[in-house]
Amino acid sequence: MAVTNDSQYKIASKIVATRGVREYRATIEDLVTDQDIVLEIGCEWGTTTELLAERAAHVLGTDISAVCIERGLADHPNLDLRVLDAFDLNAVLRLNLRVTKVYMDLSGLSGYRGLLDLIALINNYATLLRPDTIVVKSGALKHFAQLCQPWGVPRRTPRQEEADATLRGRR
Ligand SMILES: C[S@@+](CC[C@H](N)C(=O)[O-])C[C@H]1O[C@@H](n2cnc3c(N)ncnc32)[C@H](O)[C@@H]1O
Repeated sequence: MAVTNDSQYKIASKIVATRGVREYRATIEDLVTDQDIVLEIGCEWGTTTELLAERAAHVLGTDISAVCIERGLADHPNLDLRVLDAFDLNAVLRLNLRVTKVYMDLSGLSGYRGLLDLIALINNYATLLRPDTIVVKSGALKHFAQLCQPWGVPRRTPRQEEADATLRGRR
């Protein structure tokens, strides 16, 4: 039986929850820089991977479907796309990449039914790869995060809210 301990609270990755592909892709402009090594989990045929590659130092797009990766490589021969099961953590470690950002968009895990599996997976990636940020496409995770208020942690200041509003205005 798994036993939890304090290590699970030492994860430092910021988790950004997005709803829908437009929000998922909109994060790229704000979050990704030319210093980033990005791993996309669930890249399908590489549409978002291509957008990530325009800003990052390197992007590896991965998907469980060999058919998707084949089409992705045909459409984007410039991209590094590989077949990988997101749950095969040994294979993820064998990539031997110093990942700074993870983008995660897995079909079947974006709704409430998949929320516990998704949170467990996010924790695994945060622990194994230690990226500064994990961006997840999941409406359920975003909704759940909006319901959460960590006790004892101050709410965002008016200044932070103002900075966010300015950023939104730029889009
Ligand atoms: C909605 S599509 C991704 C779209 C893509 N991220 C984009 O922005 O264009 C979801 C993808 O998750 C992939 N997927 C589902 N389960 C997976 C798993 N266990 N490991 C890796 N990829 C998986 C599917 O093959 C599918 O291509």
